[in-house]
Amino acid sequence: MSREKILRIGALVSGGGTNLQKIIDAIDEGQISHAEVVTVVSNKPEAYALERAELRGIEAICLQPKLFEERSAYDEALVKHFKERQVDLIVMAGFLVVVGQGLVEAFPNQIMNIHPSLIPAFCGDGYYGIRVHQAVLQHGVKVTGATVHFVDVGTDTGPIILQKAVEVRDDDTAEVLQQRVMEEAEWEIYPRAIGLFAQGKLRVEGRNVRRI
Ligand code: GRF
Repeated sequence: MSREKILRIGALVSGGGTNLQKIIDAIDEGQISHAEVVTVVSNKPEAYALERAELRGIEAICLQPKLFEERSAYDEALVKHFKERQVDLIVMAGFLVVVGQGLVEAFPNQIMNIHPSLIPAFCGDGYYGIRVHQAVLQHGVKVTGATVHFVDVGTDTGPIILQKAVEVRDDDTAEVLQQRVMEEAEWEIYPRAIGLFAQGKLRVEGRNVRRI
């Protein structure tokens, strides 16, 4: 009986790390099997996500783009960091830096991102964090949600893995809506998508991600 390979996960974070926490918890509770988070990298030294990783005994480091001459050098540093740790899957969890070609080419269909809307709505340049929910309310849509997708060289443009819809209520503020999207959608579909990947149940066919 071959020992099933443990999927080695690297995380990229910038903020509070609630998505990272849910992924760590899902692994600890057995919802995601055969996986472990081996390293967490933030572009911001003050990101609480780094604290969450340290509390769980996971390597947590800060790599700040401004310390690199070129963006390509930052990209190369990320590739080196994750390759040295034999990372199989990179999860961007609230990461606010647009990754470059170098990382995407080094990890083809091995980088996931969570976006707090139903892509292709309310995504792309300028749509991140609370701004997404402000735009949703501004536009007056009745349904929003979250999307997990593979990362390509665009912004929020890679093949979609999972989505979940969340209702927009008349009395919602952007903050209330953001919390509902995180609780009812993000924190559920991200661990689920990673679990499917860890079990080898995802196949990318062009723009489509199939369950196998
Ligand atoms: C979340 O809304 C997530 O969708 C977006 O960043 C926000 C903060 O995420 N990508 P986290 O709490 O840092 O995981």
